[in-house]
Amino acid sequence: MKKKFPGRWFFFTGITFLLLSACEKEGNEGNQTNISTYQSAKSHNTGKNCMECHVSGGQGKGWFNAAGTVYDSTKTTVYPGATVRLYSGPNGTGNVEATIQVDANGNFYTTENIDFGNGLYPSAEGNKLTKFMGSSITAGTCNGCHGVTTDHIWTK
Ligand code: HEC
Ligand code: HEC
Repeated sequence: MKKKFPGRWFFFTGITFLLLSACEKEGNEGNQTNISTYQSAKSHNTGKNCMECHVSGGQGKGWFNAAGTVYDSTKTTVYPGATVRLYSGPNGTGNVEATIQVDANGNFYTTENIDFGNGLYPSAEGNKLTKFMGSSITAGTCNGCHGVTTDHIWTK
């Protein structure tokens, strides 16, 4: 009986560890898939820098690799149904590394892995106009600059 004790001890510690780590994965702290679609309307905080919260250690649901808000030419009204793409080259050249649908609130976001490499060039595509960012970015915190140090992202 005494000889069996260490075996049982390891067994029960093992089970406890597995249960604890399973609970941890179900908690809000882990990353979760969260990707915008044209139809979805679950987003909030329009115009704000989503990555103030949607990052590892933050409270937001899912850690975004690219996110922001697209407006129409008034720059005050959002533009649902637009499309954001990230190209490896300027002005729509090279490969499309990401395509993100702008949701019903004008927001776009993705937890999908994006290889920014030496930098990617964003575009905002509306029904009548596609605008290209002239410079490249290595992080997808679009609203960290747009609406703060430069105009909102907009198209028509
Ligand atoms: C101040 C912190 C904060 C900011 C800024 C923020 N979020 Fe969130 N977000 C949260 C929290 C907390 C949750 C989880 C609770 C909830 O659903 O409200 C969440 C949840 C979400 C969800 C999931 C809703 C669901 O039910 O599945 C989406 C989508 C989302 N955020 C998109 C965005 C977008 C896009 C932005 C930027 C335009 C953004 N968030 C900015 C804190 C934030
Ligand atoms: C580091 C700050 C910064 C980040 C991050 C950033 N931008 Fe920009 N963006 C700018 C600046 C500054 C300009 C104007 C100069 C230029 O085009 O390079 C600009 C221009 C643009 C334009 C063209 C605007 C026009 O009127 O022609 C689009 C579209 C755009 N950005 C989209 C995006 C998207 C989408 C993201 C996120 C994936 C993003 N930007 C991230 C700073 C940023």
